[in-house]
Amino acid sequence: MEYVTSISKLQEAIALLPRPLGFVPTMGSLHSGHASLVRRACADNRTVVVSIFVNPAQFGESAGYEQYPRDFDADLRLLRKEKVDLVFAPPVTELYPAGFDTWIDPGRLAGRLEGEFRPGHFQGVATIVTKLFNVVHPTRAYFGEKDAQQLLLIRKLVTDLNLGIRVIGMETVREADGLAFSSRNQLLSCTERLAAPILIQSLELARQELQRGVTDAHVVLDRMRALLMAEPLAQIDYISLAHPDTLEELTVVDGPVLVSLAVWIGTTRLIDNIRHEPRA
Ligand code: PAJ
Repeated sequence: MEYVTSISKLQEAIALLPRPLGFVPTMGSLHSGHASLVRRACADNRTVVVSIFVNPAQFGESAGYEQYPRDFDADLRLLRKEKVDLVFAPPVTELYPAGFDTWIDPGRLAGRLEGEFRPGHFQGVATIVTKLFNVVHPTRAYFGEKDAQQLLLIRKLVTDLNLGIRVIGMETVREADGLAFSSRNQLLSCTERLAAPILIQSLELARQELQRGVTDAHVVLDRMRALLMAEPLAQIDYISLAHPDTLEELTVVDGPVLVSLAVWIGTTRLIDNIRHEPRA
């Protein structure tokens, strides 16, 4: 496995590798969720490239860029084990040299859910993903449903800007107690870690309500809110029942729905979601 830090070295190496090329962009601190994307990329392609870059542009002023967990050696070990061909881990100046001043505006979808609480976040995501696509030129790119809004936005970006890349979405990988794997889970204390499954428990509660035929979104949201508020360490940013394509909030749930939430557990902000399709 080769590991490069400059765009020129990356492109020299890619020129020698066979296509199709699968690409998995990450911010490192890799876990089983990332590993599932990498495995699928290895199964689908002759070459797999993984990027590790904690993108400052997608963190707000005080939204934890410095605190974001980093463990480069462990990341390389995991990627070597998964038989990745090439790792791109550039310094910030390689992707944002002095004077950088052009941004991708991901439009209306970016203003909803996460966008309301993290202004500018998706502009940062859309810009870095476009730049990475432009330097890697992948055949396929792999993203997790854990970040459902990000996945939706990237599909839209690829369509709207005619990037010609196949975007593959992968199911959320979870710990035994249902907590979605996230690099941020490392920031939880022992008691916070024990409280964190409240996110999936409230999503499962929503699923149960919808399965038993409740269609009033407010009834479902109230049940979820009550469960979350019973956990003293949890603080809700949002809970949402939205249309999975437009992310518009639903008042009546009579079709597919994305149930999503962002909740602080102590000082760590976690997000999760499930998709529910009513039976015909
Ligand atoms: P990061 O949080 O490192 O996630 C990289 C990819 O792994 C994303 O597509 C994310 O959805 C996926 N992922 C994270 N946790 C997962 C889980 N439990 N199960 C399945 N997939 C999971 O998302 C980013 O980085 C950045 O925004 C990035 C796209 C790299 C742009 O900077």
